[in-house]
Amino acid sequence: MWTSLRFLLTAALLIAFVNANPTLPAPLNATGACGVNCAEHGTCNPETRICDCPLLLNGPDCSIRVQDPVAVCAQFSHLPHTCEATNRTLCLNRCHEQGWCEGGFCHCKPGFYGADCALSVGPDGLPKLLAGQGYRERKRGVKVYVYELPPVTNSWVYIRRIDRPLVPILMQRFLSSGVRTVNGDEADYYFIPFVQRSRSHTHKNLAATIAYIRKHWPWWDRHGGGHKHLLVATNDLGRRALVSEVLALTENVTFLTHWGLHRNHTVTGWHESHRPGKDIVMPPVINPDEPIVYSPLHSGLKKEKPRVGQLFFAGRICGDGEAPVNGSCGSSRHDYSAGTRQRVAKHHWNRTGFNISTHTTAYTHGLQTHKFCLAPTGGGYGKRSVLALIMGCVPVTVTDHVYQPFQPEINWSDFSVHVPEADIPRMHDILAAINFTDYIYLQAGARCAAQHLYYSTTFGEVMGEDGRFDAFETLMEILRMRKQYPGVPPERYMKADSRFADFVTCDQRINGVKVPLCTQNRLVRGREWKHCRELYPGVPMRYMDMFYSWPGGAVCGANRRVATCPRSWA
Ligand SMILES: *[C@@H]1O[C@H](CO)[C@@H](O)[C@H](O)[C@H]1NC(C)=O
Ligand SMILES: *[C@@H]1O[C@H](CO)[C@@H](O)[C@H](O)[C@H]1NC(C)=O
Ligand SMILES: *[C@@H]1O[C@H](CO)[C@@H](O)[C@H](O)[C@H]1NC(C)=O
Ligand SMILES: *[C@@H]1O[C@H](CO)[C@@H](O)[C@H](O)[C@H]1NC(C)=O
Ligand SMILES: *[C@@H]1O[C@H](CO)[C@@H](O)[C@H](O)[C@H]1NC(C)=O
Ligand SMILES: *[C@@H]1O[C@H](CO)[C@@H](O)[C@H](O)[C@H]1NC(C)=O
Ligand SMILES: *[C@@H]1O[C@H](CO)[C@@H](O)[C@H](O)[C@H]1NC(C)=O
Ligand SMILES: *[C@@H]1O[C@H](CO)[C@@H](O)[C@H](O)[C@H]1NC(C)=O
Ligand SMILES: *[C@@H]1O[C@H](CO)[C@@H](O)[C@H](O)[C@H]1NC(C)=O
Repeated sequence: MWTSLRFLLTAALLIAFVNANPTLPAPLNATGACGVNCAEHGTCNPETRICDCPLLLNGPDCSIRVQDPVAVCAQFSHLPHTCEATNRTLCLNRCHEQGWCEGGFCHCKPGFYGADCALSVGPDGLPKLLAGQGYRERKRGVKVYVYELPPVTNSWVYIRRIDRPLVPILMQRFLSSGVRTVNGDEADYYFIPFVQRSRSHTHKNLAATIAYIRKHWPWWDRHGGGHKHLLVATNDLGRRALVSEVLALTENVTFLTHWGLHRNHTVTGWHESHRPGKDIVMPPVINPDEPIVYSPLHSGLKKEKPRVGQLFFAGRICGDGEAPVNGSCGSSRHDYSAGTRQRVAKHHWNRTGFNISTHTTAYTHGLQTHKFCLAPTGGGYGKRSVLALIMGCVPVTVTDHVYQPFQPEINWSDFSVHVPEADIPRMHDILAAINFTDYIYLQAGARCAAQHLYYSTTFGEVMGEDGRFDAFETLMEILRMRKQYPGVPPERYMKADSRFADFVTCDQRINGVKVPLCTQNRLVRGREWKHCRELYPGVPMRYMDMFYSWPGGAVCGANRRVATCPRSWA
């Protein structure tokens, strides 16, 4: 590996020359030689020979303080008192107790490096993960190499201000699940931990990050220009939020997004974004908070409330946010939600059994007591289809050409109803035609699907699930299918591989014994269910640093040694 690295450095210089490098932000533009005093304030990455610094320091040994700390803190969404705070909860995996937390940056003890100090160099001169803790890679499934990028790309941003924290979730679970490998030559995929959705991270940073990767590691070029590389884009409009040069640069990359529009949408002019079979639609990140902490699906609950209403929706309807009058919006902005919310209101606002409003104080109750829940898009991706499923309410999707999370790999017809935009006026007939037997079938499907759409191994359970089918594991299964069946279209995965089919249908025979997860469900009581807040006292459950600071995620329990985190099903 080191030989190829040296070879690459030479090659990379040439590429950088040809590429007329984008303007690299200072940390990405650092030259490879850690200053002698790097360890005092920063972390020397022995692979790149670059000294990674906390947010307010820079220079080859992190000894130069930035001139305008207030502005720099704000640029990374920090508050004045969090920018240099030493609270462990602000750092990924609490730096594995191998370093100090400084506002989100892990300042590692000498000998350790990486975003969470998980790495060190072994006696053989090769990088090791969690040395001395007994880290073993998973036996089956895929292997993912995670680039250790400068902190400007991820850990400088204030964790509580990342509202769609898919990058931190994946970084944490790649390691604690045993999927992560440090041997890039053997990896099946390469993860670029680049946080895009924050004011301070521009398109330029992404181009610069790719240039940086090509400069320091061989795999981007070795795999034909970014193939097998995974990049998260959580923007409302997914990949399409990127400028065209960056789109071209990342044409071969697999995007993990929340936005599944796979054809041009004629009403809105939304441009197709998702490439089925190449990109993967990921479930939105839903906090363990209302409504899902009152999920009636929990296996520890005796009975569900009866679902007496037919269809429920509460949320913005008109583009201007006003409530419709007798079903009509006055707004001039008709393209909001592709016009679907407005049209549902227009045709069904006063229909018996339909409960459509802009606001209710009983949102959770509505999801618990209706058979169907409307799941339209908003300004882009929406969370409603997933919220509905976790609440046991069968989602009704209405926006054309938008794939839902893990669609088409998972067949959404098994647990949801899609009403094409043209059929909105007769939605009531479509729903009425679903008889009791069919509804029970959809509901049973929803119970399993909900597990695939929630990050239980990260946040703890809400349905009594043990996490073996959670959103992270589902992504791993899909990546395994990609690797094993490169030519098979994603909607055929179920037919192509019986293991995948068993996984998708939550067959409990899949691998191993139950790993108990702490619960976030506030309806369950009793000794059998350990609440997450008891396991992690003092960590506020509402905030993102809650999961960020649990080494490895909820699945590891209060265990601080991520290498020994339970993973009986893998
Ligand atoms: C890197 O930074 C130096 C100054 O520190 C600057 O002269 C150079 O142009 C920068 N290079 C790139 C590629 O941005
Ligand atoms: C850090 O910990 C202190 C003391 O527990 C607390 O007052 C403060 O709010 C914490 N800061 C953050 C950013 O969580
Ligand atoms: C994408 O991959 C193809 C080969 O599959 C390659 O020719 C092309 O240059 C790659 N694109 C980029 C931007 O590297
Ligand atoms: C989608 O729209 C864009 C421009 O808005 C156009 O360039 C592209 O060809 C369209 N794609 C299809 C498949 O029609
Ligand atoms: C709404 O409909 C009712 C009954 O048809 C009617 O009396 C009322 O005037 C309508 N309101 C508006 C603002 O059109
Ligand atoms: C709404 O429907 C009810 C009957 O379901 C009817 O009595 C009422 O007049 C309707 N309201 C309006 C404003 O049309
Ligand atoms: C709509 O649903 C909410 C939540 O269940 C409920 O509080 C409200 O009474 C319902 N409205 C109607 C008109 O049924
Ligand atoms: C998806 O499920 C529906 C209903 O369960 C079924 O009719 C359809 O054939 C399935 N689609 C695929 C591609 O398997
Ligand atoms: C329910 O509807 C399906 C068609 O969607 C039909 O095949 C089935 O026989 C119906 N079941 C009953 C009990 O009516």
